[in-house]
Amino acid sequence: MPSYVITGASRGLGWEFLRQLSSDSNNIVIGMVRNKHATDTRVSEELQARSNIHILQADISDYGAMQNAAEETAHITGGGLDYLIANAGMVAGFDAFDPIGILGKQPEALEHNLMQAFKINVVSNIHLFNLFTPLILKGEAKKVIAISSGHADLNITAKFNIDVSAVYAITKASLNIAVAKFSAQYAKDGVLFMSICPGVVDTGRYASATEEQLKAVSRMTKSFKEYAPHFKGPASPESSVRDVLSVINNSSVENGDGGSFVSHKGNQQWL
Ligand SMILES: NC(=O)c1ccc[n+]([C@@H]2O[C@H](COP(=O)([O-])OP(=O)(O)OC[C@H]3O[C@@H](n4cnc5c(N)ncnc54)[C@H](OP(=O)(O)O)[C@@H]3O)[C@@H](O)[C@H]2O)c1
Repeated sequence: MPSYVITGASRGLGWEFLRQLSSDSNNIVIGMVRNKHATDTRVSEELQARSNIHILQADISDYGAMQNAAEETAHITGGGLDYLIANAGMVAGFDAFDPIGILGKQPEALEHNLMQAFKINVVSNIHLFNLFTPLILKGEAKKVIAISSGHADLNITAKFNIDVSAVYAITKASLNIAVAKFSAQYAKDGVLFMSICPGVVDTGRYASATEEQLKAVSRMTKSFKEYAPHFKGPASPESSVRDVLSVINNSSVENGDGGSFVSHKGNQQWL
């Protein structure tokens, strides 16, 4: 039975990975969340308590909790793991609407957000990969996927002047290089490490934005439309996750995908 661990499975894209993957009763699907009780309740209400779903409690910034989660995972699967999807991420509101020079007017807040986002999006995922790679090495599929962001692409940032989300972009770019380093070490053992951007997806991020903040979003959307004239707006979690799972299934160490950073389309076209 193929086994999956998904971090950040409580809501947004992580929940959708959990929902789609568990619809196949042959899969063992393990969701890591910060609030197990709330997610267990959601699973029983919305997914009729599918018996192939296991919810484990772990804040990814808590090394001990993740160690326990790795042990519990091995117990559930019998020792190995096929797929690890590192989806949990800090998507803070702090940098979402202003360019980096404006953020710099609050130096303490900027530093605090940089350190916090680096801890969650980079350091915690590095610990996650180190703790779960021994299980992945015992699995069949041997795939470790980091959910990254096209915001980390140097070329489009410069070419289309995408000036918002600096903290987020800096940490996702760091995550990408961490993934490439894991690939450099483990590709020879047949483990695929890669970073995938899910596209722009409506997970409620701008639900409580003010009018002023929405102006910054429309500035970003304008840049997106210059980059991709066909871009009509955010995709649904359902279609994004379907696309990302297809990229995961079609990628392999043998095809040269190790350490790569691609979009939900499987290439460098982010929208
Ligand atoms: N949506 C997009 O357009 C988009 C685009 C590109 C990339 N992404 C990436 O896709 C991933 C999911 O995005 P999303 O839109 O679904 O985000 P979201 O709705 O904000 O969900 C974030 C998830 O991460 C979890 N999380 C945050 N900090 C955590 C921590 N310290 N420990 C454990 N779990 C933690 C949250 O858990 P709680 O429920 O406990 O808070 C939640 O499940 C993120 O990595 C994001 O950067 C999203």
